[in-house]
Amino acid sequence: MGFNPFDEKGIPMDKQIKSWSELCTKPYDPQSVHPYTRTRGILMNGIEVEAAFFYHNFHRHCDDMELRRQLSAVRRLEQQQQKMVNWMIPGSESTLEITIGYEQLATDLTACMAKTEPDPYVKLALDFALIEDFDHLYRYANLMLESDPKRAEAILKDLTEVTPGRPTVLEHQHPFDTVRKFVDFKRSDPLTRMHILTITAAEQQTMNYYMNVGNQFSDMTGRGLYQEIAMIEEQHVTHYGSLIDPRSSWFEMACSHEYNECYMYYSCMISEPDERVKKIWEQLLESEIGHLQMNRDLMMKFENKDAKDMFGKEFPTPTVLESSKDYVRQIISTQIQYTGDRSDIVPLKNSESKDRYFQYQNTVNAGDFIPSQKVISNAIQKTGQDYRIETNGPHPIEMLRDRKSSVSQTELIKEMMKK
Ligand SMILES: [Fe+2]
Ligand SMILES: [Fe+2]
Ligand SMILES: [Fe+2]
Ligand SMILES: [Fe+2]
Repeated sequence: MGFNPFDEKGIPMDKQIKSWSELCTKPYDPQSVHPYTRTRGILMNGIEVEAAFFYHNFHRHCDDMELRRQLSAVRRLEQQQQKMVNWMIPGSESTLEITIGYEQLATDLTACMAKTEPDPYVKLALDFALIEDFDHLYRYANLMLESDPKRAEAILKDLTEVTPGRPTVLEHQHPFDTVRKFVDFKRSDPLTRMHILTITAAEQQTMNYYMNVGNQFSDMTGRGLYQEIAMIEEQHVTHYGSLIDPRSSWFEMACSHEYNECYMYYSCMISEPDERVKKIWEQLLESEIGHLQMNRDLMMKFENKDAKDMFGKEFPTPTVLESSKDYVRQIISTQIQYTGDRSDIVPLKNSESKDRYFQYQNTVNAGDFIPSQKVISNAIQKTGQDYRIETNGPHPIEMLRDRKSSVSQTELIKEMMKK
């Protein structure tokens, strides 16, 4: 029998407030932590940040004072959960080390979702951004070469390769071409809804993180790289956020958020090898069941609908992180040339919007400072070749095999137009 959060007792809301000593989680050891324990922490932090901001938006659109107080209560708990989770990161980990974790998460989480996604349009959207985040990992690992040549390997621990994806310089698109069609949440598979809500929260966290920490570097290439990639994360949040059904009521959205939090803590709990961390996931799952119950009651009171009817009899298949090297390679080899064309995703040469793509490309890539390109030429200059971890064979795209020279934006575009 699978797990159904509506059948569980959970922890009642009034028993959830924690003391500072309970909140201030002991950090993991950066040398021995399992990469997916680190990335689960990053992911669940993103989910909690989204929950807190969602409830801020909800109460700002709400004139019922009693309901506003209820929202304040659940929001306070989301904030406490966020602290517990994000404080697992030790102070000794640098911004760049944490960033490698963020992009490893983006790669392997997106791949795991794309492999199981039942809706072909959502799968296409996942595959599209998958190979962009994968390329970010390569750019940041090369930036890291300056300070610590072996550190990226030590963080990723052979689960994720490091090599070009869709080159970051080509990812910049006109904003009109990043908005996808929304999915009908009343008809869609619950797994599709869980994927969309989870990946939107994860990408939003990445976007927020780079917005805030990208100026902590003194070197101009590093500063520029965070800016350039932060702008892609804005595209990703637009891309995924636009899949969310905008017709849901605030109460439906709240129940979906809580159900998703339950589902994701459950997924983390069943796959966590670190016993101490597993207990944290377990405890937070219990708390989320309490939030779900509160929101189920609110929906019943205000809309006379049972939240239980929005979901299946048990959780969809859990979202469990796993190494997906060959899957990522397969998407690179077949979809590197794809771009957004209004709400579609098509090969660049078939795009009806390619004129504005080229115009946007020429505007942002004007001048001779393109940080995502510069970081690679710097690495080549320093060590004779770029930094890569290719364990499963040569790069799937022939023009990206040469480690001793970086391919220019013009050459890249020419190649993409042929595919
Ligand atoms: Fe939460
Ligand atoms: Fe990314
Ligand atoms: Fe991203
Ligand atoms: Fe919650």
